[in-house]
Amino acid sequence: MRLVLLGAPGSGKGTQAARLKDHYAIPHISTGDLLRAAVKAETALGLKAKAVMERGELVSDDIVLGMLEERLSESDTASGFILDGYPRNLAQAGALGEVLARIGQPLDVAVQLDVPTDLLVERIAGRAAQEGRKDDTPEAVRTRLGVYNEQTAPVVDFYREQGKVTCVDGVGEMDEVFDRIVTAVAEATD
Ligand code: AP5
Repeated sequence: MRLVLLGAPGSGKGTQAARLKDHYAIPHISTGDLLRAAVKAETALGLKAKAVMERGELVSDDIVLGMLEERLSESDTASGFILDGYPRNLAQAGALGEVLARIGQPLDVAVQLDVPTDLLVERIAGRAAQEGRKDDTPEAVRTRLGVYNEQTAPVVDFYREQGKVTCVDGVGEMDEVFDRIVTAVAEATD
């Protein structure tokens, strides 16, 4: 199973990917997590990405693609993967298509998690209070939502044109959303 999770900040991509990875026994690849690990380890890449991430903007396509290609080349992706946070714009969607064609692993399905903006803001505020993620400040969240609407939302149409999108209601209990995703993926890949 090769699956992309699409959705605005706070829509539950990370939460659901953690469950889907166990369900399908495939790795969860989050470009946000990879970048946060690089920031924490203060690698050259992390130092470049830190301020950009804290503002809620996108890290450069080249940096993220390089990181993703490296991760996809690891042996645990042979039976598939869940991509969370990539692609984030049309250029990344095109690049991903090329990489996957090259390694002979085309995408099976793109799941779009649909959650209204007021609930996204509420969830992120909850996480900010609990975890203090640096880009969960009100200013950075506004920027992240703007970036999603302008740059990432067109990626949904990109996959829709390929007949690969399935939309899932992301409102409700986490287990309920998980069940909806599994059902939608089964129908879309039948
Ligand atoms: P990234 O880490 O990808 O963040 P994001 O897309 O903004 O997503 P979030 O982690 O905020 O939300 P999520 O959808 O995963 O929701 P979650 O499950 O956590 O990216 C961060 C930054 O890295 C970017 O801004 C950019 O700078 C950079 N970056 C990453 N990828 C990049 C790329 N490809 N190109 C360029 N730059 C890139 O849930 C949120 C909260 O809600 C949690 O507290 C959770 O417990 C709660 N929650 C989830 N589901 C439910 C539910 N059903 N009911 C109640 N609460 C729920």
